[in-house]
Amino acid sequence: MTSETTRARDRLIVGLDLPSPAEAEKMVATLGDAVTFYKVGMQLSFSGGLGFARELVEGGKHVFLDMKLLDIPNTVAHAVEAIADMGVTFTTIHAYPQAMRAAVEGRGDSGLRLLGVTVLTSLDDADLTEAGYGDDVSTLVKRRANQAGEIGMDGLICSPKETLAIREEVGNGLTLVTPGIRPAGADAGDQKRAATPESAIRDGADYLVVARPVIKADDPRAAAERIVAEIDSATK
Ligand code: C5P
Repeated sequence: MTSETTRARDRLIVGLDLPSPAEAEKMVATLGDAVTFYKVGMQLSFSGGLGFARELVEGGKHVFLDMKLLDIPNTVAHAVEAIADMGVTFTTIHAYPQAMRAAVEGRGDSGLRLLGVTVLTSLDDADLTEAGYGDDVSTLVKRRANQAGEIGMDGLICSPKETLAIREEVGNGLTLVTPGIRPAGADAGDQKRAATPESAIRDGADYLVVARPVIKADDPRAAAERIVAEIDSATK
């Protein structure tokens, strides 16, 4: 394995969207050294998966604990402090300035990297109006992306279709992590604005989050290897 391929491999984050730690453990064993980075979200966390996330870290894997935190500053700061103690690499905070400031304080000088969720991709302009916002989605995404950078967050979760606009707005200082990835020819499922791994990387994504195209594949390991190869060819 060349160091070039190693870097490409480390940019694939496989979402363990599975109902139990036992099933997640089986998937991680199947994927073996093809995958170095895993996302543990709410479903697995609330089914006993937090201990499993720690085991992944102890086993030398990188973990993105997708918690999408939003609460009063004291609670966010202490939650982030506890997440940092788990040794995970990334966690997510809804990109409200108050919550982001608290998260940065809670992270302290640990190695935990904080990703802001600007506007959930399930929300459109009408949803924002209904929720009482005066901004449309693209204005609010830009505003929050800038605030995340100013406050000292490390990066953002964004759709592959937003990466170019966000890079234009905030430059290269923030790490961009994109879900909504479908390898060429794969079933899009409920992802309406999916991009291929290659185009997402070319448009400026640093990491790709992929769940179903890997964990539901007939041969998950081969599916992951194909994505890594696409990431690799996009970086050449
Ligand atoms: O199966 P699929 O590759 O679509 O899964 C993508 C992962 O990224 C899931 O864990 C999903 O919850 C997450 N995600 C997403 N879109 C967002 C934010 C997170 O698909 N806007």
